Amino acid sequence: MANARVTVHTGAGIDRVEPELHGHFAEHLGRCIYDGIYTDDSVDAEGFRGDVVELLDDLEMPVLRWPGGCFADDYHWEDGVGPREQRPRRRNLFWGQGREMVPEESNRFGTDEFLELCERVGAEPYLAVNVGSGDPGEAADWVEYCNYDGDTELAERRRENGRQEPYGVQYWGLGNENWGCGGNMGPEQYAGEYRQFATYVGSMDGQLVDDDLELIGCGFSDHEWNRRFMEAMVDGIWLSEMQLDHLTLHHYYGRTMSVREGDADDYDEFLAGALELDDHVDRLAGTIEATAGTRNVGVIVDEWGAWHTEADPGTGLEQPGTVLDALSAAAVLDIFNDHADVLTMSNIAQTVNVLQCLVETDGDDAFKRPTYRVYDLYAPHKGNEAVTTAVETPTREVDDEELPLVGASASVDDDGGVYVTATNLDTRAAHTVEFTVEDATGDDVDASVLFEGQEPDMVVDADNAEEFAADDLDVAVDNDGTVTAELEPATVAGIAVE
Ligand code: AHR
Repeated sequence: MANARVTVHTGAGIDRVEPELHGHFAEHLGRCIYDGIYTDDSVDAEGFRGDVVELLDDLEMPVLRWPGGCFADDYHWEDGVGPREQRPRRRNLFWGQGREMVPEESNRFGTDEFLELCERVGAEPYLAVNVGSGDPGEAADWVEYCNYDGDTELAERRRENGRQEPYGVQYWGLGNENWGCGGNMGPEQYAGEYRQFATYVGSMDGQLVDDDLELIGCGFSDHEWNRRFMEAMVDGIWLSEMQLDHLTLHHYYGRTMSVREGDADDYDEFLAGALELDDHVDRLAGTIEATAGTRNVGVIVDEWGAWHTEADPGTGLEQPGTVLDALSAAAVLDIFNDHADVLTMSNIAQTVNVLQCLVETDGDDAFKRPTYRVYDLYAPHKGNEAVTTAVETPTREVDDEELPLVGASASVDDDGGVYVTATNLDTRAAHTVEFTVEDATGDDVDASVLFEGQEPDMVVDADNAEEFAADDLDVAVDNDGTVTAELEPATVAGIAVE
C-alpha cells in the first residue's frame, strides 16, 4: 500500500531544463586544479590528468565556471598565459593548494589550459573576472585575449601562445561574493562597480566580438541585499541598457554537521538545509521580477552543495563523499527542474576533490563519487520540458518545519517520453510510492535506483566506487499505467515512462 503519491501533469509544462542547470565550478583551491585536474607528474604531455579528464568528459558537463570563487577576485589573468616557465609565482590570498597546501599560485594552469580543458570535456567555459582587486580594463582585455580575431597585441599574444582561433567565451561573471571575499561591498557599491565593469566588458560585444556575451552579476542569500542591488542597477539608466543577463546566489548547507559523527537527526536537518534552496530561488526570481522591468535576467545557482565541518581550509575544503550528500544533490536537481522557468544555470562546488566534488583523486586513482551517479541518473532531464508534479508525502518535523520525506520532479522529451526522478529523503524508513503519469499507458517502463542497501554515511573510495552504480528498480505497473515502487531509505530513483 503506497504511502506517497507522485502525479505527473504532463500537460503542465514549466520550461526547458537548460542543460546548464547541471553545470560545475572549479577553483584554485586545495587539490581541485593542482593534483586534481592538472599535475606535473601526469602522463599527459600538457599536464592534464587523463583519468580525470576522461571522467569529466563522460559526465557531459554543460558548463564549467573558473577560476573562483574567492580566488577570482584576486586573480590577474595575464599571470597565467604565455610560456609556463616564465609565469610569475603569486600569492593565493584565500586558499592553500596542491598536495602541500601552499598558499601560492604557480600559474601553470591558466586561461589557455582552462579553455583547452573545456574543449576536451565539451563544456562551455564560464570565466569569473576580478572585480575585487582588478579593474574594468583588465576584464575587457581578458575578453579581447580570448575572443577577438583582429590585429591587436592581445589577439596576437593568444596566437603566439598557440591558439589561432578565438575561443568565443560567452559567459562572463563580474565578480564573486562581492558582499564578502570579493571586496566586502554593500549592494549599492557593488552595483556601481558592476555597472562600470559591464560597460567595458559589454562594449566588447558588437564592437570587437560578436559572441552574445552573457554578463553575470553576483547576488547573495540575503534577499534585501539583492533588492537594493537591483534597484541601484536600474537607477538612472534605460532598462534596455542594463547589462545584466543573470544574477546568482550561492547555497551551501550542512556547515555544522560532521560527516563522521552525524546521526539521523543531523541528516534530517542537513536535507532540510538543502531544500531551503527552493525558497531562495523563488525569492531571487521575485526580486528580479519586481525590479528588472523588461530585461530578461535569469537566476544562476553559481555555487552550491554540501559543506561539512570536515571541509576546512586546512584540508583544502575536502570532505568524505557520501550517499547522504548525493541524496541531497538529487533533491536539489529536482528543485531545479521545478524552477526551470527562472533558472538558467547552476554550478555544483567543486568539480574535483573539493567540497561536494563529483570526481575524487587519491594518488594515481581517480574515481566517481556518489554525486556523480546522481548526475548520470538525472542526465535524461537535460534539454527536456520540465512538467509539474504533485507530491503527496509523509513529512517529519525538523526545526519547526516539515521535511517532505519523498520528493520528485519530471520532464518530457521531444517524443513525449516522460522521465521522473524521485528521492526517499527518509534515512530511517522505506516508502512505497505510486507514480501516476498523465496520458502514459505504462506499456514501457524502465526504472533504476541508486544506493539501495547502502547507509547514508557510506563513504566512497577508490576500491568501492563501483558499488554506487545504478541498479534496476523493481516496479509494479497497473492496468491504468500507474507505477508503484518501494524506495528504500536514502535512495534515488529514475523512471522512464512511455
Ligand atoms: O567554494 C568555496 C568558496 O565558497 C568560494 O571560494 C566562495 O565563493 C564561497 O564562499
